[in-house]
Amino acid sequence: MSYTAQRYDFRDKPGDYARLAQDLSGLLAGESDRIANAANTAALIFAALPEINWAGFYFLRGTELVLGPFQGKPACVRIMLGQGVCGAAAAQRRTLVVPDVQKFPGHITCDAASRAEIVVPLLEGGTLIGVLDVDSPRAARFDEADARGLEALAALVVTASAARPGR
Ligand code: SME
Repeated sequence: MSYTAQRYDFRDKPGDYARLAQDLSGLLAGESDRIANAANTAALIFAALPEINWAGFYFLRGTELVLGPFQGKPACVRIMLGQGVCGAAAAQRRTLVVPDVQKFPGHITCDAASRAEIVVPLLEGGTLIGVLDVDSPRAARFDEADARGLEALAALVVTASAARPGR
């Protein structure tokens, strides 16, 4: 397999996220292993989105989020539900867009360069299975268009593996 990740300029965010979702559908086609699919999704997002310094997954294990496949600097491994941006988005089961992480109470610093963060919960039939987390060194990097676009990508990862859950 050969795949050349395309870097979009995201001046047309909805359009470019739709094209990225098509790329991702191609990458995930025929594969249901959740770790493999999360790994390729993190790599695709990291290669395609401008101005980001971390993209990856945490998966729910009991009451903790545990680090999954990612791109970027090494990150904290375990996050309690409710803690940090990831834990808050997971507990509230909604996407959180944080313009300035330094102003988010309880933010967990993994890479000191991160200024903005977006976390999308992974929901499988209403059940929380983890989160998709993307960080940027630029404050206010993410908006509602990023939220909708990344939610669509997260949904593709969940459904690609839904037929064989638990792995
Ligand atoms: N900043 C996150 C922790 C994860 S790292 O950014 C990769 C948080 O506050 O939950």
